[in-house]
Parts: sequence; structure tokens; C-alpha cells
Amino acid sequence: MKIILYVFSGTGNTLAVAELYKKFFEAARDSGAANTVDIYRISKNSGPFPNPNDYDLIGLGYPIHAFCAPEPFIDFCKDLPSVQNKRTFIFKSSGEGLHINDCSSQKSIKILIKKGYDIVAERHIVMPYNMIYRHNDAMAKHMWIYAHALVDMHCRELNEGKREKVKRTFLKTMWIAPIGFIERHFSHLHGTAFKADAKKCINCGKCVKTCPENNITVKDGKYKFGHNCVLCMGCSFGCPKDAIKIGLFKYWKVNGSYRLNELIKDGNLAFPYIPDHAKGIYRLYKKYYRESDKKLKEAGIDVKKYI
Ligand SMILES: Cc1cc2nc3c(=O)[nH]c(=O)nc-3n(C[C@H](O)[C@H](O)[C@H](O)COP(=O)(O)O)c2cc1C
Repeated sequence: MKIILYVFSGTGNTLAVAELYKKFFEAARDSGAANTVDIYRISKNSGPFPNPNDYDLIGLGYPIHAFCAPEPFIDFCKDLPSVQNKRTFIFKSSGEGLHINDCSSQKSIKILIKKGYDIVAERHIVMPYNMIYRHNDAMAKHMWIYAHALVDMHCRELNEGKREKVKRTFLKTMWIAPIGFIERHFSHLHGTAFKADAKKCINCGKCVKTCPENNITVKDGKYKFGHNCVLCMGCSFGCPKDAIKIGLFKYWKVNGSYRLNELIKDGNLAFPYIPDHAKGIYRLYKKYYRESDKKLKEAGIDVKKYI
């Protein structure tokens, strides 16, 4: 199968999930499925996107922003050409697995169905927060190991041609629509409040290169943040000197990579990290992992295999 994954990713989590899809799809070659996977990162800096008509299976990935899909992802769906009944799946990453996030794809699914995309599955992969607070290393390791298991399971299902009912209801669309509208317009307005702290900034220009919306410009050594911000957090998360001030969200800033592939090998970090008696904030994750354990067990997949 020729597979294309179109991915929007602010700080690399959804891209890392896309890379897992590539890894597990291509590994299936050993069992006879000759898969090749291309990944296209959605950004104003990327060249023209590969034509979905040249592929057998299409994956579309995005991070959940305020229970919705981010603006560049929705706009990308609008830009996609029409196809004839192409098998398509959606994968989304977010900082917690609450079912309140379930409606985030409603708008994109509506656009895609109209263009002939046959939505056969939607998967939600929990990854460490890139905003609000930083997950500790053990929690991030836990998330990343489960991401491996869940993506591996999904690749097997897609290889077998399985499809599932992807729910889309008028009520869900109506619930999510105003939040998406507010998020989109607020991000643009608020983006100009971002600033580079001149005392910390080393003028490396990483933020300018990272921004998927080309929203950061430099004039006379001064960094200017324009009106096209989509709050992806790529600039402030990736800044090597933690020099970017993020306006009203200053207490929610997360800076610096989680180094997920190093964490997975760190034997000093307990795994599993979220036992059934987990307390405090970790209670929010129990249901997601309980449901994941059930599905993995049914598929005969042992999560410890991915450590
Ligand atoms: C503006 C913004 C809003 C977010 N809203 C949510 C949310 O509603 N629910 C959630 O679980 N995570 C939320 N997150 C966390 C991200 O979805 C999560 O960290 C995701 O894995 C980031 O993916 P990326 O690195 O591909 O951008 C939000 C992050 C940002 C920056």
C-alpha cells in the first residue's frame, strides 16, 4: 500500500505519532504487506503537498487545540482535492484523553466526506502537554510507550482493511463550532502579545524557522510576532533559551523537548506510571488507559513489548 500522512504539528508530538505510523506500517512488510509511507508536514514553509490521488491510504493528523482541530489543519482539509472514495483515517494527539475531546474532528470530517474521502477510523493518542503544565518524565514515558502500542495496533487493523464507525452528529458539530471560532480569532489577536526577551534571546532564528504560519519576522535584530499566530506553541516550546514570552498564557508555558526516545529507555522511571489507584490529576487519565488496556488485550498486544 502507498500511504500518505498529512500532519499539522506545533511542537512535534503529532509528528512523532506520524513517525510511529510510518514505522509500524513499514514494519508490516515482514508479514507481506508492502507498505511505503510518506509524511508531509502542513506548514506555510512546506512545498506543494503530494497529491492524495497517488496513494491508496490517507492519514490526517493534528493536535487538539481547545477541543478543536487547529485552523491550519482545517484549512488544509479545505485545500485538498476531491478524490473517489479514498480510505482515510484521522489521528489526533492531545494532553489528556477525556472524551470531551471526541468532537474535535467534526468540522474536518464534514469537509473531507464532501470531497469523497472515506473516513474509516479516527484515533486519539495521548501525548505530553505542550501547554498548561509540563508532564513529569515518568508520565511522558508512560504516554509514549502506550502511543507505540496503540499505533501498532491501529496499523495492523488498517492493513487488514478494517473500518470502524466514525461518529459525526449535528449536535456534536454545533457544540464545537463556537469554540473553534473563538479559538481561531483569539489566537490571531493574542499572537501579537508574544515577545522575544532581549536579555535571553541569542538571535538563533529557530522560532522564525519553526513557525508554520511564517508569523515571526526580524527587523534590526528585533523579533516581531504578527497577526497570523495559531497558538501552536512551536516557537516558545522549541526556544533553546526559553526566551519567548507568551502573553496571557505565561503561567501555562512549557519549554523544551520531552526527549521521548531517551525516556523510554530510562529504567529508573517507573512503568506503568498510572495504576488504577492513581490520585490527583492522574485520575483524569485512568479511563483512557483502562480503555486502551482493554483494546490492546483483545488485540493480543502486550504494552511492555515497546519498552
Ligand atoms: C492552544 C492549545 C490548546 C490545547 N488544547 C488542548 C485540549 O483542549 N485538550 C487537550 O487534551 N490538550 C490540549 N492541548 C495540548 C496539545 O493538544 C498536546 O500537547 C499535543 O500533543 C501537541 O501536539 P503537537 O506537538 O503536535 O503540536 C492544547 C495545546 C495548545 C497549544
